[in-house]
Amino acid sequence: MSIFARVAGTGSYLPELRLTNQDLVERLAKNGLETSDEWIKTRSGISARHFAAENELTSDLAVKAAEAALSSAGITSEDLDLIILATSTPDHLGGFPSTACVVQDKLGAHTSCAAFDVQAVCAGFTYALAIADAFIRSGSYKKVLVIGAETFSRILNFQDRGTCVLFGDGAGAVVLEASNEAGILSTALHADGSQRDILCVPGRAGNGEVHGSPFMTMDGQAVFKLAVKVLEQVAHEALDKANLKPEQIDWLVPHQANIRIMEGTAKKMGMSMDKVIVTVHEHGNTSAASIPLALDSGVRSGQIKRGQHLLLEGVGGGFAWGAVAIKY
Ligand code: UT7
Repeated sequence: MSIFARVAGTGSYLPELRLTNQDLVERLAKNGLETSDEWIKTRSGISARHFAAENELTSDLAVKAAEAALSSAGITSEDLDLIILATSTPDHLGGFPSTACVVQDKLGAHTSCAAFDVQAVCAGFTYALAIADAFIRSGSYKKVLVIGAETFSRILNFQDRGTCVLFGDGAGAVVLEASNEAGILSTALHADGSQRDILCVPGRAGNGEVHGSPFMTMDGQAVFKLAVKVLEQVAHEALDKANLKPEQIDWLVPHQANIRIMEGTAKKMGMSMDKVIVTVHEHGNTSAASIPLALDSGVRSGQIKRGQHLLLEGVGGGFAWGAVAIKY
């Protein structure tokens, strides 16, 4: 009998501080930069985003999302075999120790529960799910907590209006359990390191100093064009592997970077927007956290129901992209 990685529970967390576009208009004006609610909304679909408090770390957001996911799965942290955490904004410089290890400790998980981070930027959650799926299907682990968590506000350059209005902080998590019932049906991952400069944090740490910029930079138009192209390809690849047609997908749960990218992908897949979970207007782009935040929002709002087919997809820095087909 086949073993599947079944979604047993979901959870998410957004920091308390919510900034509207108008809040950013005022903040950027202090830096002598102009922006507007209208520009941000029309170009990206974003109306608001959340920023972590000064003393709130990526692991703190991750723990809150994880606790909600564990509770919805009806298990405790002591039952976990593995924690995989996708992030580009780890607690510690160089991601050392891993934020997953910090979360393991803060959750009070057993030391037999392995923990590590995955770095694939906005595609991080699809990468982490694919790894968890492989571990579960191989019989290595039975209960895996997969988290996407970010504090992108810490790497935003508030002198660059082209990027700082687009991102936010948050965390989402799922508990995957080995099951005879269907769960993850297929995964597809890709990367193209030759495109690494179009979306990156160029700086490097060395000899106690940062050499180069410690802020994220993005060639928005180049990222936009590549994103629309590869998301359609990887979505079809994951569907083919799962033996599904686009019309059998009940919900597309895309990375929440830009409403226009989501509309473009849905159109190319022949799906109407009422089958797409959209949270970008309230969350902004939360990188690795955006897919699990959207998934949890869809589950908790009652839109996503047991037995439905979901297609998750994400793309971002690296360049890295991936898709995961799931029977929920
Ligand atoms: O999560 C990883 C994946 N990331 C993405 O998928 C992001 C992909 N890219 C995008 O979503 C879009 O390219 C953006 C939302 C970043 C930008 O939208 P765009 O339609 O590509 O705008 P643009 O970069 O071509 O800029 C248009 C104009 C420029 O002015 P000029 O040169 O036409 O006079 C910019 O200087 O908008 C100006 N601009 C702004 N104006 C007001 C750039 N940022 C702002 C701003 N407020 N915040």
